[in-house]
Amino acid sequence: MISPFGSHQAGVATAQQQYMTLVAADLTVTDAVLLRRFLVDVSDTVVAITRGEDTPPSPMYPEKAETPTDYATGLPPAGLTVTAGIGPGVFELSGVTREPPRRLRPLPDFAGDHLDPRWGGGDLVFQICADDPQVVSAAMRALRARMPGYAVIRWTQSGFLSSPHGGGTPRNMFGQKDGTSNPRNGTAEFDDVVWALPDEPSWFRGGTYLVFRKIRMKTANWDLTARSEQDAVMGRHRADGSPLTGKAEFDAPDLDAAKADGTLVIASDAHIRRAHGFSMLRRSYNYDYGFLTAMAGGSPDPLEHPENHPHAPGTKEHHHGGHGKLDVGLLFCAYGNDPDRQFIAAQKRLAEQDRLNEFIQHTGSAIFAVLPGFGEDGYVGDTLV
Ligand code: HEM
Repeated sequence: MISPFGSHQAGVATAQQQYMTLVAADLTVTDAVLLRRFLVDVSDTVVAITRGEDTPPSPMYPEKAETPTDYATGLPPAGLTVTAGIGPGVFELSGVTREPPRRLRPLPDFAGDHLDPRWGGGDLVFQICADDPQVVSAAMRALRARMPGYAVIRWTQSGFLSSPHGGGTPRNMFGQKDGTSNPRNGTAEFDDVVWALPDEPSWFRGGTYLVFRKIRMKTANWDLTARSEQDAVMGRHRADGSPLTGKAEFDAPDLDAAKADGTLVIASDAHIRRAHGFSMLRRSYNYDYGFLTAMAGGSPDPLEHPENHPHAPGTKEHHHGGHGKLDVGLLFCAYGNDPDRQFIAAQKRLAEQDRLNEFIQHTGSAIFAVLPGFGEDGYVGDTLV
């Protein structure tokens, strides 16, 4: 069991569990009193389910106090954490008098964005993680049961991590080790990068920001790309995650190293060169929605014609199976205390130039302030309302 209490909420510094669902919601309450009541109720629920206990009966349905609330019947909590964040809209409620976190602003547009408005924004977010997908799903139901009268779900996203041979850094849907250069929990770098800066309003101490991007990965194009080019796109060997200038995954990339002909070993547009120098905690999950989102009429881009993808020389005439509509990718989650200098600065640079762009498409986007932690006598958001 992972304790939900502490100066920071669980689920950020916590080692990544195998499954995640992000639930974004819009508030239907208009004042701070009701928001507080909702947050107290959510906290009681979170405390119960992370211990593997039934949730208290919903105050919305007093006449149904007998209704069972053992959503995860018979299952242990499987490392469950629920991490709550708020969007800019919360500060428009009457009676919310605290100053907003200084860096909580809608994200700018980035070149190449292909955002579906159905997968963005929100007044609230809950990041639900556990090592059992059914526990994640049950936690979602438990939280949803508290929402009537307070909030409505806006969007959800669900993802998973891989479990590579011998453990270590998980693999993304392109087969790459993803997360190698993340700051490590327990180091000064981690604290400096993640937790709210001293110039933030005092109620926000212990909080952080979450930038979410739903990024589709064009696996069909990737699978038709030679291994050497795949490695060049990233600047790392896909097989073992080592930089093109090194032998082992954690060797520091040498960005100045040149080949005999004078060209750079790690190309000028390689992803790790373009992203280098921007520190953030990437706590992302893979997703595979198959053809579901295309069938629901959303992104992937219905304008993406199959003829736009490359074929190896000599490929025979063939029909396409609609792989341009396959929705597989990364639920990119970046935690950090300064989105302007971290995610936003990095994404501007990547949108400008990154060899990876040919293979990816950003289709969802949101930013939240992750609330500080709370104690046994408190509730999530108790320093805010
Ligand atoms: C589907 C999209 C993406 C994929 C597949 C991807 C994949 C990777 C991989 C495999 C690495 C090298 C291993 C590691 O250090 O984790 C990496 C590094 C990194 N990525 Fe991405 N990434 C994606 C999007 C992004 C975005 C949107 C950002 C931020 C705006 C970002 C920021 C970074 C940073 C900061 C590094 C570390 C660079 C360094 O070595 O200093 N990535 N990414």
